[in-house]
Formats: sequence, C-alpha cells, structure tokens
Amino acid sequence: MIKEIEKLNKEAQNSISSCKNLNELQELKVTYLGKKGRITNILKTIGKLPAKQRPKIGQKANELKNKISSYINSHKKLLENTKQEKIKEEINLDITLPGDKIPAGSKHPISKITEDICEILSPLGFKTVLGPEMETEYHNFEALNIPTEHPSRDVFDTFYLGNSKNAKVLETNKTGKWLLRSQTSTVQIRIMENYSPPLKIVAPGKVYRPDTPDASHSFMFHQIEGLMVDKNVTFSQLKGTLLFLAQELFTPDIKVRFRPHFFPFTEPSVEMDISCIICQGKGCRVCSNTGWLEILGAGMVDPNVFKTVGYNHNKYTGFAFGMGVERLAMLKYGIEDIRLFTENDIRFLKQF
Ligand code: PHE
Repeated sequence: MIKEIEKLNKEAQNSISSCKNLNELQELKVTYLGKKGRITNILKTIGKLPAKQRPKIGQKANELKNKISSYINSHKKLLENTKQEKIKEEINLDITLPGDKIPAGSKHPISKITEDICEILSPLGFKTVLGPEMETEYHNFEALNIPTEHPSRDVFDTFYLGNSKNAKVLETNKTGKWLLRSQTSTVQIRIMENYSPPLKIVAPGKVYRPDTPDASHSFMFHQIEGLMVDKNVTFSQLKGTLLFLAQELFTPDIKVRFRPHFFPFTEPSVEMDISCIICQGKGCRVCSNTGWLEILGAGMVDPNVFKTVGYNHNKYTGFAFGMGVERLAMLKYGIEDIRLFTENDIRFLKQF
C-alpha cells in the first residue's frame, strides 16, 4: 500500500508538471483529488485495513493529498504567468508606458462668465435662481410696469408663441399671451410673487428677441439679472455692488460711471459704463474713442412693481440690474463676432 502511494506521488508529479494548460490541469485535479479521484479512493479503503496499519497508511495518504494539491497550485501559477507573458508578447504591450491622455473639455465662455458673476455676488448674499424661458405677457411686461402700447411689446421685438389670440385673458387671470422671455427681469416678478422680502437674487439665463443675426446681434442671448429688496435699500448700495462686481470681473483699478436712463420697472434708472478695458480709457475703436463701455442697465425698483407683486412700497425699497453676458464675454476676451458663441467651432471653444 505504501509503495502504491509513493508510485502515485511520482506519477502525479510527472503528469502535473508536464501539463500545458489550465483546462488540463483542472482535469488532473479531478482525477486525483475529486470525489471519485484516486486519492479519495485510497482514503476510502483505509477503514477496511487491519487496525495496526491504518494510522501509518492514513498519514501517508493524507500527506500525498496535500502534496498533490500543492503541485497543482504551484503549476497553476506558472501557467497563469506564462499565459500573461504570451498575451503581452502577442499585443506588444509595454505596461510601463504612461496611458493615453483623455482630452478634457473646457467651459463655454458664456458659462464661465455666468458662473464668475454668480460667484462674485454670492459672498454679498445674492442667491442664484432660475426662471422659465417660456413666459407670459404678464411676467415679461405687465408686472414690470411696461404698458400695452410700449414698442418692446410689438411682434417685431418679442417672439409670441402659438395662438396668441388670448390677449384678453390678461385682465382676468393675469397671464396674457405666451412668449419667449425678452429679458430676465421676469425672474424678479416670479421671485417676488413667491417670496417675501428681504431678498437678494441673481438670475442668469437665455432671452430671445427677433433680431437678424450679424456680428453683434443674435435672436437668443444670455442675461444676468440682479435684485435686492429690503428696508432702506439705497442707490449707493446699488453703486457699491456694481463697482465691486466690475472690479472683481475685470480689474481692481477699473472705473465706473452711471448715466441717467429710463426703464419702466426702475425709478430712477441708469446705465453703467466701465472704463474701456482695451485702451484703459484712452480711446480706441472698441469704445468709439469715448474711453467708456456701456455694460448694464439698473435702477431702484419702481413702486408700481412692488404694488403689483403685493409688497408694501412704503416699507421696502430695492434695486435691480441686468446685463448681457455675450457682450461682457466679448469685451473680456476680445471676441469680435457674437455668432462664435453658438457655432461650436472647437478651435474657438478650445481657447477658454
Ligand atoms: N431688463 C433690462 C434690459 O433687458 C435691463 C434691466 C434690468 C434694467 C434690471 C434695469 C433693471 O435691457
């Protein structure tokens, strides 16, 4: 019996070491160690042996079982390694080389400026909010104190949607015709309808106006609206906020000036200019030799707007401002054609 076990050891050692692939090795494992395998058979017969022989033979058989499993395991490792080597040779792979770089995209300049402005105003307490692009005449005009006969409500200046015969509805449920918003000032109304003062918001988003596209006109562009309402909000707070914004967005030594203007929803209203960032105010082609660039409209919220949204205009004052993002981006990055923003030319986009 002992001899038989030794013979089996040699035989197993030979067949395992000459085995050429993992499948064959698995078969050998079954042959020797499986439920009906040769070692298992030996172990089963031990019970029938005379009592004296049992311990010794049992010990030998168990030793053999362990040896065979270790032959199999080490040969398995050998086969696996050579398999990997083969694969490496076949595909000529040098795993020490650095991997291919995945090209990373960059932010669109409009997204970049928008995010910058929202981030600059955030520490002053302005929360970023969004409003719908499809709007009602009420939110785009009526509630903003823009009278029915105002030219901006003309079909040549606003995109009206679908069947717009429902103009009469306005007096009853305050909606009017559907349209694509022509200004983000709509968001002022939506916020004040839903929240009570005090509040400070910035509202970025797309606006639409029926313009024929050229280097400086587009029928869709982006605006950022700002609104602050509280007790005792003053014009000097508006000036301070906008000066801070201009300094942070452009350069700390930028100059600003305010010119009287008119907007139906602010009183008084202004336009803000910054000193030309191309020529530093000396006068150049971009600023038409004036040294100044107009960048936004602003003013103190008109009490009529407060009345419409149900705010107490004797208790609260506020300021609002609105600016075109494309114009800011064109000035900041020296872009000469507004159409570049929507053409998706990778050579253009890659620069930001
Ligand atoms: N909505 C105005 C425009 O589109 C800008 C503006 C916003 C002016 C807020 C004053 C206050 O021209």
